[in-house]
Amino acid sequence: MTGHVSRRMLLKGASLSAISIMLSPAFARVGPVRDARIERLIAAMTLEEKAGQLSIFSDPSRVDGPPVNPGLVAQSMATVQREIAAGRMTGLYNGIGVAAGRELQRVAVEQGPHRIPLIFAGDVIHGMKTTFPVPLGEAASFDPELARRTARAAAVEASAKGIQWVFAPMVDVARDQRWGRVVEGAGEDTWLGCQFAAARVRGFQGDDLTAEDSVLACPKHFAGYGAVMGGMDYNTADIPETTLRETHLPPFKAAFDVGALSTMASFNDIAGVPSTGNHHLLTDILRGEMGFAGLVVSDYTADAEMIAHGFAADGPDAVVKALNAGCDISMQSGLYNAHLPALVRSGRIAMKTVDTAVRRVLRVKQALGLFDNPYRSLDLAREARDVRLPAAIALAREAAVKSVVLLKNDGDLLPLSTTAKIALIGPCVSDKGDMPGPWASFPDFASCVTPEAGFRAAMGPTARLEIARGCDYEAPLAGGIARAVAAAKAADVIVLVIGESARMSGEAQARVEITIPAPQQALAEALAATGRPMVVLLRHGRALALSGAVRNAPAILATWFLGSETGHAMADIVFGAAAPQGRLPVSFPQASGQEPFFYDHRTTGRPQLGADPAWKARYREVTTEALYPFGHGLSYATARYSGTTVSAPILAGDGAITVSALVSNTGKRRLHEVAQLYVHDKVASLTQPVRVLKGISHLDLDPGQRARVAFTLTRADLAFVHPDARRFAEPGAFDVWVAPSSVAGIPVSIVLD
Ligand code: BGC
Repeated sequence: MTGHVSRRMLLKGASLSAISIMLSPAFARVGPVRDARIERLIAAMTLEEKAGQLSIFSDPSRVDGPPVNPGLVAQSMATVQREIAAGRMTGLYNGIGVAAGRELQRVAVEQGPHRIPLIFAGDVIHGMKTTFPVPLGEAASFDPELARRTARAAAVEASAKGIQWVFAPMVDVARDQRWGRVVEGAGEDTWLGCQFAAARVRGFQGDDLTAEDSVLACPKHFAGYGAVMGGMDYNTADIPETTLRETHLPPFKAAFDVGALSTMASFNDIAGVPSTGNHHLLTDILRGEMGFAGLVVSDYTADAEMIAHGFAADGPDAVVKALNAGCDISMQSGLYNAHLPALVRSGRIAMKTVDTAVRRVLRVKQALGLFDNPYRSLDLAREARDVRLPAAIALAREAAVKSVVLLKNDGDLLPLSTTAKIALIGPCVSDKGDMPGPWASFPDFASCVTPEAGFRAAMGPTARLEIARGCDYEAPLAGGIARAVAAAKAADVIVLVIGESARMSGEAQARVEITIPAPQQALAEALAATGRPMVVLLRHGRALALSGAVRNAPAILATWFLGSETGHAMADIVFGAAAPQGRLPVSFPQASGQEPFFYDHRTTGRPQLGADPAWKARYREVTTEALYPFGHGLSYATARYSGTTVSAPILAGDGAITVSALVSNTGKRRLHEVAQLYVHDKVASLTQPVRVLKGISHLDLDPGQRARVAFTLTRADLAFVHPDARRFAEPGAFDVWVAPSSVAGIPVSIVLD
């Protein structure tokens, strides 16, 4: 994570802030702070025009999919054009279509005050018309380069459809699976989150932000949103600042370090201060310490929501608090337009503060090349040509395959033969409507491949396939179980696709019980009672608490929401055309009540070690161990780890040591293994997690083959955030693992000098 930082700086305990200010490439890309053209514009703009440059609105005239936000009222194109001509908006979001986009931009640059181009944004969370696996699923690939490639492909399609700014990636570290938005991020681990955050930004923004097919990234939601209390969306995040800095901020830093020039303030408050009005967060930390040079956009009506929070008295007060805190753009509420000019005139907001915000917005527009080419990414030929390209569809299938995690495969039930007689059962098996997943804002349902279609394609014309829906996601279906049981009895093996519908994950979809909904659990129980072997393919946007027939099924695959190519990818894995290689980016608990539940927890003074449970940190009903831990994932081959060694027992000064282990393929098929490096600081001035991930390495081994996998460990890898916000390592003893999951392996000891 601190790869650019000289060891000497770390040794001296230099704060991350100082380091990032020196190194952030964002500074290089955003252009000079005082650009003559921008300064001339600012000098010429009225207060009303400045407020307009700081206001963005959803585009109700070009909606293309289900609504993603509450309370949107369709407006005519003429109304939107009038607002643009009056200079009352800096841009629009979640509308697509190049012809209409060009027309709106024409109004802005021909009729709008000062001819300032609009920026067109959109929630491109896991693809556009080609839908990729949900970000959490893709994180299960443990392959950030894959995420870079899918973000790149999404950028190509999004920009072909007229989008220049994506409200993505979501980089919130999420450790409570009750929260519905776990699905949008990279899971529970900070280190992995950093890798995916950086990769996705690089994919979206490409090598050149002004390129036609590059889009501005917006790592969100700044900050601590993943820590909402009880997993309930929008709730308070009551986290100490050390935890904020250790766990939640690093993925943002990783995103900014590769050039992300926008971020979105989060809905939640931290210890009573909503992020939208949090000066310490949006100015001291974000700009002062992290060196962020881009713009901050509020979340949807979040400035107005500070009134409901009880943090702002009314609209004008909300604007004062948001703008003074460092929130440059108001999304959707219209409050900046309504109140900002008067607030400046009455002296409650300084003109300098407004100008700073406008300057940031215009610099980002300039960095995107919009001043020189307002019609960038508004190309009719590209819109016709660059959507659903064969390479993107192939990538969607590859990404989907790599996102699947094999949790269990007793008796090597998988892979199945394509000639087996299969009962394919579940609420979504033939339902294109559920395929794209929770946050496909611009879905193309028609091109989605259902499990049934994927299985038929793999099994060929002589397929012996029984199909039954069984039940709906959250409701029984009259006669559904009976028909499913009959199908199962007529087959050799059951493939049951169950879990959450796309609507059960995502924003505002918090759950109290992260279980399989009752009608589906009943279906699973009835199917298990047939005695037929059962393969369970879970569909889910979070880790689940499995029970009964689902938990006891001999083979279980975590398949998340795999996107357009769902059915093909499922078939590839089930029939063995591809082997599963995903790893869990979230821990599966024994029961919902254990949440928040994550592998890198601290330990209590009474850990559950040994057999005697009395007076220990535990629940009465379940063990404290994960059902399936972070990092877990099986393959159709088997891996054996042995001989972990370190190049030296002592890590001194700014040196490095190598930690390595032998990995052998003891199975009969080719193995794709993801070796993981974990560390534990045994005694420190703040109690440290039982293990923390510090590296991953992918390797492919033929049957019988073995290889030594090696990681380099430096002082920076052993550092943690101290109460004074500095990050440095404390000398002492550490345990180090090279292991196939967060609970596996035997540690070796090293000493930091
Ligand atoms: C979400 C954001 C999203 C915005 C615009 C909000 O409700 O929290 O993630 O970008 O809406 O659609």
